[in-house]
Amino acid sequence: MGDVLVTGASGFIGHHLTRRLLQRGDRVRALVRVVSRGERLKDDGAVLVQGDVADLDSLRRAVSGASVVYHLAGITKAFTARQYYAVNRRGVSRVARVCAEQQSPPVLIVVSSLAAAGPAKDRPREESDEPRPVSIYGRSKRAGERVAERYAAQVPTTIVRPPMVFGERDVGFFEMFKAIAVSGVHPVPGFAPRTYSVIHADDLVEALMLAADRGERLPADARTAELQGTGYYFAACDEQPTYYQLGRLIGTALGRRRTLTIPFGPVVVRAVGAFGELSGRLRGQPAVMNCDKAREALAGSWTCSAEKAKQGLGFHLPCSLSERLRQTVQWYRDEGWL
Ligand SMILES: NC(=O)c1ccc[n+]([C@@H]2O[C@H](COP(=O)([O-])OP(=O)(O)OC[C@H]3O[C@@H](n4cnc5c(N)ncnc54)[C@H](OP(=O)(O)O)[C@@H]3O)[C@@H](O)[C@H]2O)c1
Repeated sequence: MGDVLVTGASGFIGHHLTRRLLQRGDRVRALVRVVSRGERLKDDGAVLVQGDVADLDSLRRAVSGASVVYHLAGITKAFTARQYYAVNRRGVSRVARVCAEQQSPPVLIVVSSLAAAGPAKDRPREESDEPRPVSIYGRSKRAGERVAERYAAQVPTTIVRPPMVFGERDVGFFEMFKAIAVSGVHPVPGFAPRTYSVIHADDLVEALMLAADRGERLPADARTAELQGTGYYFAACDEQPTYYQLGRLIGTALGRRRTLTIPFGPVVVRAVGAFGELSGRLRGQPAVMNCDKAREALAGSWTCSAEKAKQGLGFHLPCSLSERLRQTVQWYRDEGWL
């Protein structure tokens, strides 16, 4: 077993994955940028390789000799489509290309997103459903998947599409925890009772490792309709709460007796997105809530089925969503975030 490379190791999910791989005894290389905060990864025992998904030579140094590459580097918020595509499409393209150049190409696990598949219609999304992304972010992640498919004849590749991910160290979902902890209020986008899939980062990491060990790979030619979804997995909790219920579950995890859920109509959601967009531009830092995210928030239910991962990978969830939320609250409290 050679080394394992994790791109995006300095990010939220990357940290969870790197720690778990090290715990298992894998030798882990972490691709970090000059601007990345990699000290903790080094303390944990990972070997840092400086690089960027925009820089082919750094990727060649990082990938050389690796038996598995977990490609997590991506951007979830940006000002322009160009910025999303530069990392979420071209980053995958360069990583896959460098993997293909190796004498013995490593297994490549690409972390995509439910956003690449799009919202659910009358049932949770399954891997074989036709993707219909509704946001620029989702389209850029789908473009990354398509480009990975092109290298599939040379590189054994599996794509995992997580829904919303929460857990220790996450700053995105944390805003929801903070709002409920501080004010007891949970704003709900739109009036329709939309349902959501979510997953704790540690459970996602298990799915990624299983996908590397025994996952179905993308077919060498994925253009035929029957092969749609081959080599793809969703990974999610069994529970699919509405946004109201999610707020209440977080409230309970925080020990609150009551959480006030307040629905906001589409006009308000779009206005909040536009405000986030503007204030992000003024600060020079894209906001968590922006026009693209408002589009996703109003697009319908965001649920997916983890049945294929359960049947094919042996993926299982060690505890309930409520328990995972409680653990996350505990971590935020222990670290002084709440
Ligand atoms: N969080 C979620 O709810 C969620 C849901 C579905 C899918 N995903 C996907 O999961 C992956 C990881 O997400 P996350 O939540 O962990 O995000 P994150 O915390 O923002 O981490 C993103 C990581 O990507 C790295 N990165 C960004 N641009 C890069 C570049 N040009 N070259 C090399 N590395 C670069 C970042 O490095 P720096 O530390 O240097 O910035 C960071 O390590 C992403 O691909 C995302 O699309 C996330």
